[in-house]
Amino acid sequence: MTNIRLSANEDSIIILDQRKLPGKIEYLELRTAEEMYDAIKLLKVRGAPAIGIFAAYAVYVLSKTTKNVSELRAAADCVKSARPTAVNLAWAVERMLKSSDLRAECHAIHDEDVQMCKRISEYGLDLIKDGDGILTHCNAGPLATSRYGTGLGPLILGSERGFKFKVYADETRPLLQGARITALELMNVGVDVTLICDNMANVVMSQGKINAVFVGCDRVAANRDVANKVGTCTLAILAKHYGIPFYVFCPSSTIDSSAKSGADFVIEERDSGEITDLYFAERVAPVGVKCFNPSFDVTPASLITAIVTEFGVEWLSPSRS
Ligand code: MRU
Repeated sequence: MTNIRLSANEDSIIILDQRKLPGKIEYLELRTAEEMYDAIKLLKVRGAPAIGIFAAYAVYVLSKTTKNVSELRAAADCVKSARPTAVNLAWAVERMLKSSDLRAECHAIHDEDVQMCKRISEYGLDLIKDGDGILTHCNAGPLATSRYGTGLGPLILGSERGFKFKVYADETRPLLQGARITALELMNVGVDVTLICDNMANVVMSQGKINAVFVGCDRVAANRDVANKVGTCTLAILAKHYGIPFYVFCPSSTIDSSAKSGADFVIEERDSGEITDLYFAERVAPVGVKCFNPSFDVTPASLITAIVTEFGVEWLSPSRS
């Protein structure tokens, strides 16, 4: 499944609508800044590296219909404002606007992600052994990136090489990226995956089924605090309790050295309907109930065993490896 590509005459972007997975494989064609903003905001395209790749193609496509640099900047700023936490979005837009060859630059951003995911996957594969049980949260696979993925990359690469991992995928409330996308991606490539509800992580850890936790991330601060899908920090706390290594995977473009710590991250808050209605046949909560729906949480560096990028493994807590 190709998640993002340019149309044949390069005046639009074609994306797989990830909201519809796994039930429907539907592609959307996007031309305007407003359509591109919506695609990111509504998670038709999602996952930090994939949002960056999409934004790069968006700036290229928009450069064809805007009349001058300031119009392009305004359209690009609209796309950039769609989600605040994943730094790859702003990073890709700014990199594109600095380039004198937008066509080459958007393809370079996409191609580099393919290479980075492969290298991240190789480094990650060295951290585990055949037969290991791995717990993952949300979705950090090919659909969230370009190919292989970050958090899922080592598992997919390992499976290609004959390793038999037992992966436990958190369903990941409220948007169910684990159930809808991680489970689908791993099943498609023959990885043994078991779906659990988010509140079951303690059970599988306490039963000795988990040798490592693998997650992707949306932003890394200078002190190595990490923002990822809400619920990630809960897993890190549990992993520390059980002495299970907790690994974070991302391309170096996800590191935001301008943020001193996680306290500097803007955490996206989303619509309460995602908790009360979406993905349920009927509304499940009383009308009028107050809801709080932060999309990400911050895992402090002290709970992370290592961060794996295309440059290698940066150990933060070697004693737990
Ligand atoms: O809200 P989403 O689905 O975009 O959140 C995605 C995640 O939290 C991923 O773990 C992260 O973006 C890394 S994707 C390689």
